[in-house]
Amino acid sequence: MKFPEGFKWGTAISAFQTEMGTSDESVSSNSDWYVWVHDEGNIKDGLVSGDLPEKGDGFWDLYRLDIKNASMMGNNSFRLSVDWARIFPETTESVYVDVDYEGDKIADVSLPERSLKEMLSICNQKAIEHYRDIFKFIKDSGLSVLLTIYHWPLPLWLHDPIACYKSKGECDRAGWLDEKTIIEFGKYAHFVSWVFSKYVDVWETINEPDVIATQGYLFGVVSGFPPGISDINKTIQVERNLALAHNVAYKSIKRINRNSEVGVGTAPQYFEPADDSPESKKLVRYISYLNNEWFLNAVNFGIFDNDIDMLFDERMEKIAPPDYIGIDYYQRLKIRHTNVPGLPYLYNMELLPCEDCSDFKWDIFPAGMREVCKEIFDRYHRPIYILENGVADAEGKKRQRFLVEHLKQLEMVISEDGIPVKGYYHWSLIDNYEWAKGFSMRFGLYRVDYKTKERHPTEAVELYRRICTGEYADVD
Ligand code: BGC
Repeated sequence: MKFPEGFKWGTAISAFQTEMGTSDESVSSNSDWYVWVHDEGNIKDGLVSGDLPEKGDGFWDLYRLDIKNASMMGNNSFRLSVDWARIFPETTESVYVDVDYEGDKIADVSLPERSLKEMLSICNQKAIEHYRDIFKFIKDSGLSVLLTIYHWPLPLWLHDPIACYKSKGECDRAGWLDEKTIIEFGKYAHFVSWVFSKYVDVWETINEPDVIATQGYLFGVVSGFPPGISDINKTIQVERNLALAHNVAYKSIKRINRNSEVGVGTAPQYFEPADDSPESKKLVRYISYLNNEWFLNAVNFGIFDNDIDMLFDERMEKIAPPDYIGIDYYQRLKIRHTNVPGLPYLYNMELLPCEDCSDFKWDIFPAGMREVCKEIFDRYHRPIYILENGVADAEGKKRQRFLVEHLKQLEMVISEDGIPVKGYYHWSLIDNYEWAKGFSMRFGLYRVDYKTKERHPTEAVELYRRICTGEYADVD
């Protein structure tokens, strides 16, 4: 396999999924996700697994070991996130901020110098220092840093997931339903880029806004994502707020350093009709629009479709298109339209069982990654990073083939389709806390023994090393 000079090879992790597990300091308990997965009612109802994140990897203390393993794997980059609730366990609402609007939409949020200093005085300074140590260690180990500012958990002072679940979103601390969260996110993003800009090579504003909106607000009961709601209007409201939040964060990072590379990561998947009926084809087109296009149209073109009829209702001039689009590709979804009377259009769908199944029962389909890259590049003409791609595979029987097959597709995306893909980050370096599913899903190249916290390489580690160092083609 041949990849371009300077291609970024890495793995990805996120804060909530890996940090906790070794010491009291490693635990971050002031977030909506933390409360959500501890809630007795949610555990009893089977919304969440009952596994607890504070029994996890302990990356907070063991980061040296993990980074060393990444480096020995021939990686030259590492993707991780910082935890908003850890950095600001207490509210930042009283800090003065300048907010710029376009019509009713928040177009920019910026902190004057005195407010940045105030943010510094109320943040968890030990956490900032610790994150700096982690970044320094990554850089000293010869890897660049790709930092995700926001990978899902919200501070509790912004979101009460239990009250929102019980009231179906009519709650006081309403998280992404409330545009106040855009302003607070803007402050947080400006602050984080101010304190960390020296260490970060590439920025990702938000991980998978599309997943936050759909899994929390459309399929909330099935996914077990907070706040467990099924309401299409709220889904759109959240996705719209997240698009504005990305825009605001993008501008803040550029304000600190206008040469920085800033993008957003989405999770476009490969959707396929399960039969030839016009209804199934129409439904697939619609779902693909919702999942793969709605958000990216907003942040790239400034066009908002507020009632998801595939027609644009509003334009925003003050949108700054991302420097790159991050793609998290996992699976094919084969969909059939069903005719269940009384069900809203979107729920009238049947998902076919996987053919080549991961432990998650996701359908492994490497060719879909090429299709998705083509689709996204043809529409938006932005460079691409694959920010996530991986497989839940506890026995480790599928990961090697998964890696090789997906990377063969990626090589064709670059060499045959001429698409500028700048890097590949495998999900994940280590097994970790898989949200509502807890520890049952194992995505790690390194297997983690959660009792002893030991890391054991799977067979895919040596394979990935050979790929990253360019040795693979010679041997196989
Ligand atoms: C998320 C990760 C998650 C992975 C596997 C992605 O949607 O960004 O946090 O662990 O998928 O489900």
